[in-house]
Amino acid sequence: MAFPPQFLEELRTRLALSDVVSKRLRLIRAGREFKAPCPFHNEKSPSFYVNDQKGFFHCFGCGAHGDVIGFVMRHDNLAFPEAVEHLAGEAGLPVPRPTEEDRHHYERRKTLHDLVEQAARWFEQQLHAPAGRAGLDYLQRRGLDTDSMARFRLGYATGDSGALRQHLLKLKFDEEDMVSAGLLKRPEDGRTPYSFFRNRVMFPVTDRRGQVVAFGGRILEGDGPKYVNTPDTPLFHKGTLLYGLSRARQAAADGKPVIVAEGYMDVIALVRAGFEGAVAPLGTALTETQVQELWKLIPASEKVPFLCFDGDNAGRRAAWRAVERILPHLAPGQSARVMFMPEGEDPDSLIRAQGAKAMTALLEQAIPLSEAVWRMESEGKPTDTPESKAAVKAALESRVGTIADRDVQAFYRTEMRRRVDEAFAPPARERFSRGPWQPGRRPGEPPRRHVAGTPGRLTAKPAGEGRGRVSRLASVRERILLATIINHPPLFSELGEPLGLLPLGDPDLEKLRWAVIECLSDDRNRDSGLDAAALCRHLSSAGHETMVSALLGESTYVHAGFARPEASTEDARKGWWPTWQHLLHRRLLDDLREAKAALTRDNSEANLARVVALQQELVASAQGMTDGEDSDDV
Ligand code: UTP
Ligand code: MN
Repeated sequence: MAFPPQFLEELRTRLALSDVVSKRLRLIRAGREFKAPCPFHNEKSPSFYVNDQKGFFHCFGCGAHGDVIGFVMRHDNLAFPEAVEHLAGEAGLPVPRPTEEDRHHYERRKTLHDLVEQAARWFEQQLHAPAGRAGLDYLQRRGLDTDSMARFRLGYATGDSGALRQHLLKLKFDEEDMVSAGLLKRPEDGRTPYSFFRNRVMFPVTDRRGQVVAFGGRILEGDGPKYVNTPDTPLFHKGTLLYGLSRARQAAADGKPVIVAEGYMDVIALVRAGFEGAVAPLGTALTETQVQELWKLIPASEKVPFLCFDGDNAGRRAAWRAVERILPHLAPGQSARVMFMPEGEDPDSLIRAQGAKAMTALLEQAIPLSEAVWRMESEGKPTDTPESKAAVKAALESRVGTIADRDVQAFYRTEMRRRVDEAFAPPARERFSRGPWQPGRRPGEPPRRHVAGTPGRLTAKPAGEGRGRVSRLASVRERILLATIINHPPLFSELGEPLGLLPLGDPDLEKLRWAVIECLSDDRNRDSGLDAAALCRHLSSAGHETMVSALLGESTYVHAGFARPEASTEDARKGWWPTWQHLLHRRLLDDLREAKAALTRDNSEANLARVVALQQELVASAQGMTDGEDSDDV
């Protein structure tokens, strides 16, 4: 019988551990602690320490560890209640006697637990009896072997609506308890209760401690809901428990990821594939209580369960609802990650088709909760006017406002503002990452040293960065440069190399640029006189169709007539260089600003040399810009 927690607290504070221990062993003082030869293993030199401040003992030899109650249990070989009674005597504390009501409540829970456990055993037996043949066949068809059926204690409820009741009555259980436990259902007219689960494969649901408290039953074929679950009972509340919870506790303690899937079969497939931290809600959407439960079971280091959703629209909506519910409860170090299954797959089908590796890959792609918040408020929303941008910003602000923890909320606010700025504010100037470029080369001069088309030289952002966000609009100049070359492939021999040197701001444009360079660097293509139409066909078939058609259109040409396909090659060339020069110049200015800042921080020879070099290069670059006067200024 449980003791009230306040009583146990009182007991622990009243007793100094060293007093209790010294009645049983000779303790030697060691600084703030006491030590002795360990009573729990054989040793000569003392490695057993007692710390009164912490209220714990610890043996560095055998690892024995515990509090005052644990010590007495182990030393005096007593059960928990006996040790408590004994210590209460030592402390002069009266032991609170359970009331009649407590006793009754306790007995009743114990009876219900036994009852449900017996039902689970019965269902297991039925699965392997002739009457359960259909269930066994079904599970085998779904790829489960006998060991797995035993591991998950799968069972079968036959169509006989009286058999379970008969069986449990023989074991001296009470019919009313069977109804309370959700095993039987009493008809409206008050006649004999009948089996709640019939013709279903049975999945026992265990509580935190691993005791069976409920079931899910899956229909094999025919009409009716696919799954039915035990209704709420004194032992089972479906909104707080999760399928697989007790196993997941152990897995989380072992450092395995906690994964929230959708259903019974998903948990089973995940666990069989080695993801023992898998759990699933029981026929409802994930509740905040369930998430709190998960946070409790994950050790302090990283409380970040993975929430797994279908890849379709319904799955996304479910994900956003879960995010909405979780947000208010975030705390330092306590969050979630969201992952989406490929469309049409659940973890069970994915693992069966592609193995555990596929699941690992998805876990690696799971997005942090902050990313999920951003997507849920920005994806699919109009953002083409100042008002619509402001609306997205406001929605994010109010979402973030639901986070109760002040620190977490503040960091979310900063993060969302950064994302809003990145997505909506037009970059004041093109930001270049540092990369090689050729100082002082005059426009039109043939490139030195480098050969076009070796991507390794570029230090642009990796393609793919920013995927899934509202991609930053590529600068008009960047688009013009690429469009001109696609429309005028003969220019590539001259312009290919400088084209390869400029880091681009947009990952998709970046990919397209490399495809263009790759295609036009190929001698065979050059020799065959590949023209613009053929190049476009090639690019489209290589997966760049969308980008090519976005690029080659009025939105680009309106800024630079020379980029049009009908412009003469010479006009195209003449227009291209100043545009390139302009981008280069801006980049130099950025670099100079950085170099000056570095020099302010650290007045070193190297930093000074860099500033001087950049200033010289800027002079050359400015000269180059005035040389290319005939450009449309963009
Ligand atoms: P699904 O319909 O996705 O089924 O329901 P599943 O888990 O993939 O099962 P299989 O692979 O077809 O056997 C997901 C979960 O939703 C609950 C169950 O918990 C189920 O595992 N559910 C579903 C119900 O409670 N009732 C239903 O009628 C259907
Ligand atoms: Mn399934």
